[in-house]
Amino acid sequence: MGHASLDIARARRDTPGCERVLHFNNAGAALMPRQVLDAMTAHLRLEAQIGGYEAAEQEHEATERVYAAAARLMGCSTDEIAVVENATRAWDMAFYAIPFAPGDRILTCMSEYCSNYIAFLQVAGRTGARVEVVPSDGHGQLDVAALRAMLDERVRLVAVNHVPTNGGLVNPAEEIGRAAREAGVIFLLDSAQSLGQLPTDVRKIGCDILASTGRKFLRGPRGTGLLYVRRDVIEKLEPPFLDVHAARWAARDRYEIRGDARRFENWETNYAAKIGLGVAVEYAIGWGMDAVWERVSGLAATLRERLGEIPGVTVRDLGAVKCGIVTFTVEGRDPREIRRRLGAQGANVTASLAEYARLDMEQRRLAGVVRASVHYYNTEEEVERFCRLVATMA
Ligand SMILES: Cc1ncc(COP(=O)(O)O)c(C=O)c1O
Repeated sequence: MGHASLDIARARRDTPGCERVLHFNNAGAALMPRQVLDAMTAHLRLEAQIGGYEAAEQEHEATERVYAAAARLMGCSTDEIAVVENATRAWDMAFYAIPFAPGDRILTCMSEYCSNYIAFLQVAGRTGARVEVVPSDGHGQLDVAALRAMLDERVRLVAVNHVPTNGGLVNPAEEIGRAAREAGVIFLLDSAQSLGQLPTDVRKIGCDILASTGRKFLRGPRGTGLLYVRRDVIEKLEPPFLDVHAARWAARDRYEIRGDARRFENWETNYAAKIGLGVAVEYAIGWGMDAVWERVSGLAATLRERLGEIPGVTVRDLGAVKCGIVTFTVEGRDPREIRRRLGAQGANVTASLAEYARLDMEQRRLAGVVRASVHYYNTEEEVERFCRLVATMA
């Protein structure tokens, strides 16, 4: 099928979960490769044997590798990377650091994620800033011309997702970045659903801040997240929380915040998970993001095509460019019921409900969709088997 550049058999051998499940829930949490699992369990064992602080000291190099790996993956420098608990916390630590004033405008997109939008509402309520939604174009992606028309000196932030939670849409991140840069506005990109499936170069995109997560397409452990903040922006953002890792208690009445992106981290962390995330990012780089993207987008296109042939099934993905997330509805069926029934047959998907991306789902009058998300280790045979299962429920 034109995906010859990836050794799928090796990818599956590296992935113990492939033997047990048909995993189309990579946008929820992908299956970890055994390299990640082994590195994490080894560290947990070491903690139990010699003590947590002592294990961290002994494995200092292993815990540091995640910074260099993430920087390589995103095309930035190591001091622009912070490792936190998840994408939401990464996003929050940067967003809540932006000093909004009454009348400031926050521009976002129709498909924005629930947690981000809740934060917009909270901050708007506290500060008098306004949240405004850039309309979508005919493909369903953010309309860049409309964004350009909305940008003025009152816009303080452009905050959008690269890929939304509820569909295959890929927003035109580079064009959005260009428009924001030309207007001199901070650009915050939510890459929770894109990092690990799309080649992502923060310099090319031109974002000032990027937030992502470890467990989804990066195949890292749960409870891990990555934050990129551009060098020139770091010192302008005072994190909403500070501790002895983010800052130094320099005198009785004075603290000094550290100069790198680790000012957005906190002191105590899950070292095994941090090591695992580093291994996961290195593992992703090892496959090559261009090859991963070709494989993932190709497999998802096949899945969309096959699902579209099933009577009663409607594929729901928007976008001029579509990624590894495939969403659909089955006439007369609740997506949660489909999820449950597929799960009982060993096929993992999720149900994406309206409130996870309310603006978009309400506009399309959708209460929910079934979300089937593929990764490079999935196969054409799994796509066929999955569609046969769906056909029995339609
Ligand atoms: C588009 C989008 N942004 C942000 C998040 C939040 O990521 P996390 O659960 O790691 O905080 C998600 C999670 O599903 C998401 O789909």
